[in-house]
Amino acid sequence: MMRLGIVWKKSKNHFTKLHVNVDTPIRLVPDIPMPVFYATIVFMPQLTPPKIRAFKKEGHKITVLTVYDYPSAKILDAAGIDILLVGDSLGNVVQGKPTTLSVTLDEIIYHSEMVARAAQNALVIVDMPFPYCQLGTDEAVRAGARILKETLAGAVKFEGGESRAQTVAALVDAGIPVLAHCGLRPQEIRQTGGYFVQRQKEQLFRDIQAVEQAGAFAVVLECLEAELAKEATAAITIPTIGIGSGRHCDGQVLVFHDILGYTPEQQPGLKHAKRYADLHTIISDAAKKYAKEVQNGEFPTEEHSFR
Ligand code: KIV
Repeated sequence: MMRLGIVWKKSKNHFTKLHVNVDTPIRLVPDIPMPVFYATIVFMPQLTPPKIRAFKKEGHKITVLTVYDYPSAKILDAAGIDILLVGDSLGNVVQGKPTTLSVTLDEIIYHSEMVARAAQNALVIVDMPFPYCQLGTDEAVRAGARILKETLAGAVKFEGGESRAQTVAALVDAGIPVLAHCGLRPQEIRQTGGYFVQRQKEQLFRDIQAVEQAGAFAVVLECLEAELAKEATAAITIPTIGIGSGRHCDGQVLVFHDILGYTPEQQPGLKHAKRYADLHTIISDAAKKYAKEVQNGEFPTEEHSFR
């Protein structure tokens, strides 16, 4: 994780602003003698859970996208997305599985390491895959610690509310920041039998208040009826990050492949997932053009050949 700082280089009559890697400043500016280049160093570290939490008070709407690989994470980070979430939607959109249940801790760590290495500003959060939220405090802390030790991620996401608040507290106590996930919980698909819009107020309020109390720094609200999400957002002091939960949440999260139109068409049930691009058509057209050019001898040309 590179930490950027600002160094003011003193010339005769003026100062020049330089952006440097403050972890290795001398190697990066070897030609500048020490006494003339130091002035002020302003740290510009990555976003942290306390900063994300403070965004609610500041009225800054939090932007979150899922991502699973290095080049995509680089693009999203440079585009100014606040949080890069390595979700267990990895199972659905990358591995082609029907649910998130089969994703393993090793698999999510493998992808998170690539994503976190790309992030210079965004906070990287990693999903605790099934069944690490469900196994109790020791297993959860062990899994959360592996995620922080083996990747450069800054927090974990945890599916569960009131009944698992003790585990959230144990993670926080171990120094593992937690983004909680309430409302629709995809890891319980076998129990619920489907992905349904959530309208049950009493349990939802108990869940979000319990995770806030346990020390979560924010909470994802998935697939809530919009008015309910608005009330939930007003009921707690930590930010709510909605997916399919209307516009009154403190932030929004969507899945990378959904917003980019990676799939041929809008999948049923993904009404909330606005398509901002048509990557499916772009990739398909490029692949067809390439195949045609190889077949008719148009590619490669001299321009693409070595001498
Ligand atoms: O796994 C995931 O990507 C998620 C988000 C959609 C919130 O849980």
